[in-house]
Amino acid sequence: MNTFSIRPCRAAALVVAALAAATANAAVPADPLVVACVGDSITYGHGASDRGAKSYPAQLQALLGDGWQVLNFGHNARTALDEGKEWNGQGGMGYRKSPEFAKAKDCKPDVVLFMLGTNDSKPVNWGEDGADVKRDYAKLVDDFLALDSAPVVVVGVSPFVKKDSFSIREKIVGGELAPWQRAFAAERGLPIVDAYEATKAAAGTSYIGDGVHPNDAGYGVIAAAFAVKLLELETSLAERRFADAARIALPAPKRTAMPLGEALAARSTHREFSSTPLSGQELSDLLWAANGYNRPEEKKRTAPTAINRQEIDLYVCRADGAYRWDAAENALVQVCTNDLRGLTGRPGPSNFALTAPIALVYVIDFARQGMQERPQDAFKYASVDCGFVGQNVYLHCAAAGLNTVFLGSLRPGEISEALHLPVTSIPLFAQTVGKPAAP
Ligand SMILES: Cc1cc2nc3c(=O)[nH]c(=O)nc-3n(C[C@H](O)[C@H](O)[C@H](O)COP(=O)(O)O)c2cc1C
Repeated sequence: MNTFSIRPCRAAALVVAALAAATANAAVPADPLVVACVGDSITYGHGASDRGAKSYPAQLQALLGDGWQVLNFGHNARTALDEGKEWNGQGGMGYRKSPEFAKAKDCKPDVVLFMLGTNDSKPVNWGEDGADVKRDYAKLVDDFLALDSAPVVVVGVSPFVKKDSFSIREKIVGGELAPWQRAFAAERGLPIVDAYEATKAAAGTSYIGDGVHPNDAGYGVIAAAFAVKLLELETSLAERRFADAARIALPAPKRTAMPLGEALAARSTHREFSSTPLSGQELSDLLWAANGYNRPEEKKRTAPTAINRQEIDLYVCRADGAYRWDAAENALVQVCTNDLRGLTGRPGPSNFALTAPIALVYVIDFARQGMQERPQDAFKYASVDCGFVGQNVYLHCAAAGLNTVFLGSLRPGEISEALHLPVTSIPLFAQTVGKPAAP
């Protein structure tokens, strides 16, 4: 999909090292998504100039930023085969027997990047047809899937072997293991990252002399491949965490009764707010007015959108966290537990958004809008569409005795990180809502 650089700092993350600096400055979102990198010396970072910064997990952390915690559980020479051996016959090499296996299980991962198999290509481990390797590989994956944190296990296809070394054999890795790993992932419905194809394509410049271990650039190639997959999964991972714990069903919305003429007469921007929270009913009425389904049988809404793309997602930011409004279910789905209100409005202690109970954030899903080939139209229509929602909120607030201010000032990069938005979504505008300040 063409994401047409609508979120420059995150889209560029996949290829430009400069992103590391940009994301390092972002507000630190709570609840980072925990990524356990499980593997052998290629995960450990053997051959990197500085493992702490150049192993693939370290480079992945830099690409993803503070919304993620990437942990390296690589162990040299380890095999998927439980009874795995070194090339010289020394046993005890099964990953299951390494301390990293226990640590990877204990870290409550949201995601496991599973990249074992290279050492299994040694004749002492592979045997005739790798049947035992495949059996134990699947058992390890199952053990991770069965954890209480129910992680998503991403199958990392074993990297290309540029030159056979340590009795690791490309003819097994490329010819038998990688095709089996692809089939295994497909059969089990697991996400896959084809590190084999990625490293093979970059093989000319991406290996150290042993021909098995990538150099810093090669580790960067693996990190970028995993980063693309994780950013694809990010929104669902974040919501999954909270899905059961914090899904707030709102009461059915009620219509405010003020005549339109009077609401128009009263519509006004206000920047003074009471910190009194809005009730569930008040919130439901507000969100329905903003962009609820007024013709549910046609799936149409109170605010129009160009070509009826309905590309706006409303997020409700409160002191206790941020929630995506599921309009169809009229429910709030929690996506993080931090207070993001201060990322809307002008930064600083006098920011009224910190007093008001609600900061609405209008997020455009450019993928859903589907105008990637016409970026100017995409932004034009997205902005106008947000304006309609904003005016609905203004009129509802006038009728419901609430104060509000529409905001072009917000920090989209930091909000995107904290909300775990996909790269195709951008917070475009915000709107503060609350009861009037006491006179
Ligand atoms: C596109 C747009 C962006 C705005 N951005 C801000 C903002 O960042 N901060 C703010 O205090 N007010 C903002 N406003 C509110 C305007 O300042 C306000 O609507 C204007 O002063 C007129 O006042 P009224 O809404 O009471 O008619 C914005 C309004 C619009 C339409």
